[in-house]
Amino acid sequence: MQNTNQKHSFIKRGALTLSMVCASLVLLSTTAVEAKGPMTKEVKTEVVKSASLSETRINAVLKEAYEKFKNNQDGKNADYIKALAIVDSKMFGITLVTPDGKVYEIGDTKDVVSIQSISKVFTAAKVMQEKGDKFIQEKIGVNATGLAFNSIIAIELHNGSASNPFVNAGAIQATSWVKAKDSKERWAKIYSNMDDFAGKKLGFNDKVYESEVNDNKNNQAISKILDARGRMGSDPLEATTVYTKACSVNVSAHDLGMMAATFANDGVNPVTGKKVLDKKYVPKMLAVMATAGLYDNAGDWLYLTGTPAKSGVGGGILAVVPGKLGIGVVSPPLDKFGNSVRGQLAAAYIIEKLGINPLAQ
Ligand code: DON
Repeated sequence: MQNTNQKHSFIKRGALTLSMVCASLVLLSTTAVEAKGPMTKEVKTEVVKSASLSETRINAVLKEAYEKFKNNQDGKNADYIKALAIVDSKMFGITLVTPDGKVYEIGDTKDVVSIQSISKVFTAAKVMQEKGDKFIQEKIGVNATGLAFNSIIAIELHNGSASNPFVNAGAIQATSWVKAKDSKERWAKIYSNMDDFAGKKLGFNDKVYESEVNDNKNNQAISKILDARGRMGSDPLEATTVYTKACSVNVSAHDLGMMAATFANDGVNPVTGKKVLDKKYVPKMLAVMATAGLYDNAGDWLYLTGTPAKSGVGGGILAVVPGKLGIGVVSPPLDKFGNSVRGQLAAAYIIEKLGINPLAQ
């Protein structure tokens, strides 16, 4: 039954007749299908799609990705937040979740890291839900900075604007705009929103929080500059502290896969069925993820995979294949941009091998 749902979830909507034809043709070779007349091309595409995304195929590709990259030694843990330097750099887990809630996973998928910058997606989504997509575009911005995620000069270069909600400046700014009577309520809302995306209560990493909150003068400076430019919705230092808390929430590859699948499923958690984000806002969030999710490497990532994605310096990464798959990977060693090395390799491999690059559909 799950297998059937699985196949159907990957077949284009409205192609009922076509998909029935496909079902009976799944086992035929490409050459045999090609000989069938005017519908041939379309039929062939559907057959290949449904066949290539069978449970067996997904599991095989998942295993290949894990085996291929588990011994990759490139990159290193972030150490500018001291608690991140001591996380097990061998940790490697990959989880794939379909919009109907089917989970495929391999490796250390229950082990947690701090979510770090991936939290920025959910805070921005909360602000978008409360204040609309125009607010995000006009007040924070939706363009790439072309500079590092913690850049101060980027703010000055862009006329006092953070440019987008996924650099530290934009995330601190977004945090300040979450509607709340005080910072306690603001934090509670941001935290429970992440829980809703994950479909469970997420843990909190006290060590990472203590490590960062006592050493985040750069972020405090950013918040003060934004405040001076009239861009903050609440006290800048309080917002920086709430932002730091959001970065300290623990997530596993499983959690990230589920959070990504909530985006892939039009803003509804595939397991709990809870609507977390209006469907109309999902493409807006995905557009910002495509533009700025992997920072200075966002262009290369999009070129390679066609997917909106987001990374964090804890070593997590999530990627969204709209309507098809949520991908979550955890592996702490990072490249020079601050993106998980094995995370990018594994997600890109899976997208390529399953033929699910959204820009190639
Ligand atoms: O504010 C910081 O620097 C961290 N809490 C988050 C940075 C981060 O994850 C950037 N990601 N690649």
